[in-house]
Amino acid sequence: MDTGLDFTTIQTILESNAEKVEKLIESYISKKEQLISLLQDVQAEFNYIPQDVIIRISQRLEIPLSQVFSVATFFQAFSLKPRGRHTITVCLGTACHIKGGQRLVDKLGRDYDLKPGETTEDMRFSLETANCLGCCALGPVVVIDGKYESKVTPDKLDKILKKYE
Ligand code: FES
Repeated sequence: MDTGLDFTTIQTILESNAEKVEKLIESYISKKEQLISLLQDVQAEFNYIPQDVIIRISQRLEIPLSQVFSVATFFQAFSLKPRGRHTITVCLGTACHIKGGQRLVDKLGRDYDLKPGETTEDMRFSLETANCLGCCALGPVVVIDGKYESKVTPDKLDKILKKYE
């Protein structure tokens, strides 16, 4: 979902979508075993899984809260924090690190005030790091919304990110 919105606006949307959330949860009442699908639907709707929705799922489906949380935190595809419209993954595996991966992370920190695990205030970018993305010869590797960029330098990163503004 392309929100393009700040945290306050997202909260407002969440509140105004309470009925939608209820309907979604309701549709899973008789299929508790499909908790992962329900969480996928919630993630698709909000681009993350809000904590109050997790609590509501637990209450309505009568699944222990600890169980819902453990599923929501187990899979990397799920996020419990609001995510930006674009996810940047910088590889910091050994090969990419040697070739300058950390310089890219540092640049994002300097230019966008963006640290690993965080999202820019304007909700444009979220930053993640990885230990190896399986194409070490092309390092340093950066993946943006699933698109691989190879041999990325700080200058090249600038140009790439402009496309996502
Ligand atoms: S170390 Fe970066 S792709 Fe392998």
